[in-house]
Amino acid sequence: MSTARFPEGFVWGVSTSAYQIEGATAEDGRGPSIWDSFAGGRNGDPACDHYRRYPEDVRLMKDLGLAAYRFSVSWPRVLPEGHGRQNDKGLDFYDRLVDELLAAGIAPYATLYHWDLPQALEDLGGWTSRDTASRFADYARTVHDRLGDRVDTWFTLNEPWVAAFVGHASGVHAPGRRSAADAFVSAHHMLLAHGLALEALREGGVARAGIVLNLSPVLTPAQLADFSLRPPEEDAEAVARIDALHNRQFLEPVLRGRYPEDLLPLVARTAGLGHVHDGDLDVIGRPIDLLGVNYYTPIAVQAQPGAPAQPDFPGSEGVLFCSVPTAVTAMGWPIVPSGLSLVLRRLTADYPGTELMITENGADFVDVVTADGIHDVDRIGFVEEHLRALRTSLDEGARVRGYLLWSLLDCVEWADGYRRKFGIVHVDFVTQRRRLKDSALWFRDVVSRNGLGDERPKRPTLETVAARANVSRATVSRVVNGEASVSPEVRAAVLRAVQELGYVPNAAARSLVTRRTDSVALVLSTAAPQGDALVAAVVRYATSVLEGAGKQITLMLADTAESRRRVVQHVEARQVDGVVLLPPDGHGPLAERLARTGVPVVLLGKPAIASLVPYVDVDHVAGAAAATAHLLERGRRRIGVVCGPTEVVAVQDRLTGHRARLQEAGLRPLPAPAGHDRGSGEQAARQLLADHPGLDAVFATSDDLAIGALSAARAAGRRVPDDLAVVGFDDIDAASCTAPPLTTVRVPVTDQALALARLLLSRLDGRHAAPVVLPTRLVVRDSS
Ligand code: FCB
Repeated sequence: MSTARFPEGFVWGVSTSAYQIEGATAEDGRGPSIWDSFAGGRNGDPACDHYRRYPEDVRLMKDLGLAAYRFSVSWPRVLPEGHGRQNDKGLDFYDRLVDELLAAGIAPYATLYHWDLPQALEDLGGWTSRDTASRFADYARTVHDRLGDRVDTWFTLNEPWVAAFVGHASGVHAPGRRSAADAFVSAHHMLLAHGLALEALREGGVARAGIVLNLSPVLTPAQLADFSLRPPEEDAEAVARIDALHNRQFLEPVLRGRYPEDLLPLVARTAGLGHVHDGDLDVIGRPIDLLGVNYYTPIAVQAQPGAPAQPDFPGSEGVLFCSVPTAVTAMGWPIVPSGLSLVLRRLTADYPGTELMITENGADFVDVVTADGIHDVDRIGFVEEHLRALRTSLDEGARVRGYLLWSLLDCVEWADGYRRKFGIVHVDFVTQRRRLKDSALWFRDVVSRNGLGDERPKRPTLETVAARANVSRATVSRVVNGEASVSPEVRAAVLRAVQELGYVPNAAARSLVTRRTDSVALVLSTAAPQGDALVAAVVRYATSVLEGAGKQITLMLADTAESRRRVVQHVEARQVDGVVLLPPDGHGPLAERLARTGVPVVLLGKPAIASLVPYVDVDHVAGAAAATAHLLERGRRRIGVVCGPTEVVAVQDRLTGHRARLQEAGLRPLPAPAGHDRGSGEQAARQLLADHPGLDAVFATSDDLAIGALSAARAAGRRVPDDLAVVGFDDIDAASCTAPPLTTVRVPVTDQALALARLLLSRLDGRHAAPVVLPTRLVVRDSS
């Protein structure tokens, strides 16, 4: 049995935060926080009504056998104006909570700032004002004066990156500012606040204090596939820059008392450096006893000259944030458990000796509440895989002292409100009833055996239930849907099987009878699509996103008149809630026909005929123009084209981009012989080279054609790239293995797949959806 045991004394617990669970935002003298103003005062109340129900919540934790509970103290509950007048009733609440925890044998870990700044301080400039840092230290002192005799683990701030940049640069979080300068200045003041509060806590005699950072490995798509790779040369700077902004901006000052060299120019350019005073870094860099690590997902980037900065990442110009090609949570966060190991390996190598604690890790998934429980196998799978990664890190020497799961309760997920479900305990926000999900019961077992077992719950299916009850699938479906046509004995047998197996009726079971489908059709409109890789990616990743959103996927082929008719019938009969059609080329009428059914449809690829159906595509025109510009920059003047089927819109666009760029350079485009695969591409290129002996470059509208052109060049005795440069389009895998490796335009396949899924989801939500056109990127290799 491969039980992964954890070290003796390893701390198991959960984390929450004040604003997300307490409610009672106007009770007992609490002042307003920036989140009350930002969320219109509705979001944080009632939340989980933890302010009143904390004894029940502590009892739940005790029943789960938890050793520690990380909660946050609400600054405006303690100091309604942020400074000055102290609200004793607010402090009383934390007093009671701490006593309750201690009586239950649970160690209280207090976080002093989990994003709920008093609005009164925001009115005075908030985190952009240096004074806020000193006020935070005063507040820390106040809280410590009351709780310090019983709380021995303290965290100053939670995730200052999010608070500074999501709060002040993109404005997605409170206080909703949109100023890059404000974000950098706030980040510094938060760090200063951490340092000053640490001093205050030390004066009070605290022996265990630290900060909580959200850390993510920053990787290129290639590194995601193989962690041992170094970032490709062309991407190394982009990776380092995002790492500096997201991770090292906080790690370095806190653990080494300095800002990263490569960060300072970004800050200086945006905000100046006037806010960083002499001596600040000494304060910020005072030793901590414990670093809290929140890990959810990695960040994938690559260089993309000309890309604008991401709103959350001022200073990220020229960086493309890429999708991570893997399953995602309902939040859309890619699930990469080994990313946790990468973070820990890095901390262990770069900051040896630092004591670590996983202070948050967990997942939002759509939960189904049934009479016999909430069988959240996905959440269990998520936590289990992260714990396995953590176990590996412990073997590698990471000094991780505990794991606190996010989160105990379903709660208010900031700007996303109540729809996110991170809890291992379900909360009904109407009745405030708490119910343990299967993940809570599973976590209880992990805690009690101080490790993972072999067993992982499997999702029972309709078939399993049918087999157990010895009936047909249709009978199970009828019972699940409450149909009267089933005999009482059979019904009882089926319900017993459902109960015993913990089966959650899914879309398949429901749709057999009710037609409430929760399912989506992925329709392939040609049997031999150009770009199999793209279609494969869509099938894989779009499916993952849609399944994450609770949709069942049906794959349908529509490559003949008959099969197209059947697809239309299927959709007309409302067997599906939505349709993803790929690729639409040549079948514009099918898209229109499907759209007329009233069921939301989205397309992969711009349709040939202008249409109202939203689509996802890449900028073929700009991609071809970049390829052509590259040839021109390398001094090529006689550039021929080998071209794919011109009825394909993408091919037309690629030709357009190529020709426009040539014309700009005062050159005349040559006629373009056409092919459709490597063989015919080679034919076409041979003809081109024979007709134009002086040709010094070939632009092919696809990689397959370009590979054909490489063969034609070889046969004609032309040396690539010395006397003939060759450039393709698509960046298929083979492009890097040709001789010489092919320069080509990279089309972001997974990004398209994910964008397509998101486009459909927003249409299913009834939102208007505009076409999405993604950038391409020239990858220069040896053929040019
Ligand atoms: C973290 C926050 C926490 C919660 C989780 C999902 O960034 O610290 O409050 O929102 O994400």
